[in-house]
Amino acid sequence: MIITPKKMLAMLGGGQLGRYFVMSAHKMGYKVTVLDPDPQSPAGRIADVHLCSAYDDQNALDEIIATCEAATTEFENIPANSLNYLKQKIQVYPDGDSVRVVQNRIREKTFLRENAIPIGRFHIINEEQDITNIPEDLFPGILKIAEFGYDGKGQKSVDCKSSLIEAFDEFQKKPCILEKRVSLDKEVSVVLARSADGQIKCHPVAENVHVNGILDSTLAPANIDQLTEKNVTDLAKMVALKLNYVGVMAVEFFISGREIFVNEIAPRPHNSGHYTIDACYSSQFDQQVRTLTEMPIGNPMNHSNAFMINLLGDSWELPSPHEPEWIKIMMESNFNLYLYGKEEPRVGRKMGHVTFLSKEIINQDEIDRLQKIKKSL
Ligand SMILES: Nc1ncnc2c1ncn2[C@@H]1O[C@H](COP(=O)(O)OP(=O)(O)O)[C@@H](O)[C@H]1O
Ligand SMILES: [Mg+2]
Repeated sequence: MIITPKKMLAMLGGGQLGRYFVMSAHKMGYKVTVLDPDPQSPAGRIADVHLCSAYDDQNALDEIIATCEAATTEFENIPANSLNYLKQKIQVYPDGDSVRVVQNRIREKTFLRENAIPIGRFHIINEEQDITNIPEDLFPGILKIAEFGYDGKGQKSVDCKSSLIEAFDEFQKKPCILEKRVSLDKEVSVVLARSADGQIKCHPVAENVHVNGILDSTLAPANIDQLTEKNVTDLAKMVALKLNYVGVMAVEFFISGREIFVNEIAPRPHNSGHYTIDACYSSQFDQQVRTLTEMPIGNPMNHSNAFMINLLGDSWELPSPHEPEWIKIMMESNFNLYLYGKEEPRVGRKMGHVTFLSKEIINQDEIDRLQKIKKSL
């Protein structure tokens, strides 16, 4: 059902992705209720209504049903049952069934493999016994906990069976997957929107650099050839189609030589899509509002080239606690500063980002210059 402005939309999750959804929704004249147990959550602070409760709190879910026309999420660990419960009464995109697949790495990899989507080699470890028959050539690998990992958390590099057993113990023998370490030439991602009637629009491919498993920076459009661009875009569309997904999603890819692998799927807007706020006609958050309200999807293309750098708590905490020198960002007139309103800067915590815009292709010298500014904060 098409939902027109002034109506109330619900956002499950109050992080920075939720915050920019609220801003897009407000821009278009919608109201937003945010559900997040954290009283200080970045999205909750700017929402029309902040329900400060757990994601499976029955009263909160009933309040959403009573007051909102539609609900979406910004966080893959939202209980799928909460989304499905809401769906009985109001419009919900994405639905709990697609979120359930991607919130568990075992289900996610199995889904990709069953749909013949290229993925790297992996082995499922449900219990210690599953380690005995692991092929030796999966080492060196990365052990990843199946659920609740993010930003490189819940991951451990392992180079032999004994270090794997140790790491599995460290993860309290919870279900995991072991992935063979891929030698990466590039990492890219595709953020797309799929409407309820099956139309798909992709933002330009983003090229991502991770440091310590956390996204450091994104160049968009990615510096890749046309064939690679087409291949990753087609694969991302295939993932959305096979999941019967409605809403905004991101697909992360590894490029290794001539091979392309899907790394993982996010059932929500994505950090690597932050550049779309400044550089695209319709941002990933605008698209989330549009798909949720069953309005036509906007134009996902870029009108500028962009380079986005994440601001982690490191900028406040290292080498010793200090307030970053924001003037250094502001002096660059093409640098847009985003801070998420988080009180406590911790090393590795995403506190904000900056997006540099240019009419010209952004080359490595320019990237180095921008990184230097960020490091000097
Ligand atoms: N199998 C792998 N081979 C090489 N690098 C990997 C592999 N798995 C993860 N990484 C690196 O770690 C980063 C984070 O891993 P990912 O599985 O995407 O977890 P998260 O959910 O934390 O984003 C990846 O973007 C990549 O840089
Ligand atoms: Mg990832």
